[in-house]
Amino acid sequence: MENLSIQPANGKLGILIVGLNGAVSTTFIAGVLNIRNGYAKPVGSLTQMQTIRLGSRIENNFPLIRDFVPLSSLDNLVFGGWDIRNETCLDSAMESKVLSEKDIFSVQKELDQISPFKGVFIQNYVKKLKGTYIKEGENKYALMLQIRDDIKNFKNTYNLSRVVVIWCGSTEIYIPISAVHKDIQSFEKGMKENHSDIAPSMLYAYAAVSEGVPYVNGSPNLSVDIPAVLHLAEKNNIPIAGKDFKTGQTLVKTVIAPMLKARMLGLNGWFSTNILGNRDGEVLDDPGSFKTKEESKLSVLDSILQPDLYPDLYSNYHHLVRINYYPPRGDSKEGWDNIDIFGWLNYPMQMKINFLCRDSILAAPIVLDIILFMDLAQRSGMKGIQHWLSFYFKSPMHDENTVPEQDLFIQLMKLKNTLRVLMGETPISHLNGEVSKFIENEIY
Ligand SMILES: NC(=O)c1ccc[n+]([C@@H]2O[C@H](COP(=O)([O-])OP(=O)(O)OC[C@H]3O[C@@H](n4cnc5c(N)ncnc54)[C@H](O)[C@@H]3O)[C@@H](O)[C@H]2O)c1
Repeated sequence: MENLSIQPANGKLGILIVGLNGAVSTTFIAGVLNIRNGYAKPVGSLTQMQTIRLGSRIENNFPLIRDFVPLSSLDNLVFGGWDIRNETCLDSAMESKVLSEKDIFSVQKELDQISPFKGVFIQNYVKKLKGTYIKEGENKYALMLQIRDDIKNFKNTYNLSRVVVIWCGSTEIYIPISAVHKDIQSFEKGMKENHSDIAPSMLYAYAAVSEGVPYVNGSPNLSVDIPAVLHLAEKNNIPIAGKDFKTGQTLVKTVIAPMLKARMLGLNGWFSTNILGNRDGEVLDDPGSFKTKEESKLSVLDSILQPDLYPDLYSNYHHLVRINYYPPRGDSKEGWDNIDIFGWLNYPMQMKINFLCRDSILAAPIVLDIILFMDLAQRSGMKGIQHWLSFYFKSPMHDENTVPEQDLFIQLMKLKNTLRVLMGETPISHLNGEVSKFIENEIY
């Protein structure tokens, strides 16, 4: 098979992060700087560390993904973005207390040179924060145009070949899709009239896609997941992806739930609770922002367990998700899952999972992978929702009337098969020799 025509990853790739001074963002940037200076290994990153099998198992051919597909090199990444506080990434990395001083001081010069553009912020959408470094404009449309100018200036200043924009900003209040999001015309009119259903994150998404730049949504708010931006992305041939990084508790859920279904074990209830003490935890302490997160976290089980197909096993379970803001823990989140299951003759059993994780440490390599893959998607001419990147999201964007794939290992297979097909290799079906023989003989 021929590989599809993929533009080479020449030149510099700009990364514009909304929420540049947040915990995820500064942990990601400091990490990449440490890695490219040779001080650390890219643990947690598929693009940097994982291999991909090519051909049958007997061929024993497992190149690294980064050697197999043409990805931008870490040396060619240039960082920038927006925030609502005027701080350098050095100050913010120190303040967020995710990394030790050693890992910050090793790259302090570079971190000190990265500071944000003024953000577009309206407090009603994130009740727990105050913006001190924000854009002013006549209406939301004018603010969106200012974001477009920032993207153009960033590209020119650093002589970049390409840019990706990623939302690592705070979770906004819950806003359901409404008429104003329906198409490009209604959305543009809505921006000019300051419609309340248009949140700042949507303005960043609209600006990026208008500038021909791929956009990723790492939080659960709608942002790019509205028909108006989807239409624009299709029209402008721009890849988009989201929503909500799949980092800790949901990562575990999308491994355990498929196991229960694979073995036809029933579920009576799944109670997930967390304590979290970083700024994200504080923002989620507001019921409006928590509702957005809750919707994202709750969506996972039904689409994996398919209660409509298995009513005896999954039609009646209780699924509760709680996040409690508990400052002493900082970024070191603790999650508990209590899972009530049942087996043969309905006998009850329980599973308990206690995950002592670090939120931003889990999120940073995901940010890196998604950015590099989105740039690859754009150079490969892929547009619209990038379903093959569902692996990285709690609530994967999907087409209307399609159920998203949530099972982590199906998502991984889909991701790797997409890379194989992009490079002209045969996708791997995991069929064994006997069955393939039947297929060849058209017996099966
Ligand atoms: N860390 C994880 O494991 C994880 C997982 C899934 C999703 N997320 C999401 O990622 C996002 C970032 O998480 P975090 O821990 O870095 O949070 P954080 O609070 O440390 O960082 C968010 C940053 O966004 C900035 N911000 C808020 N509104 C903005 C706006 N309109 N424009 C520009 N900047 C704005 C804030 O000032 C802050 O610096 C959150 O939405 C969180 O829910 C994180």
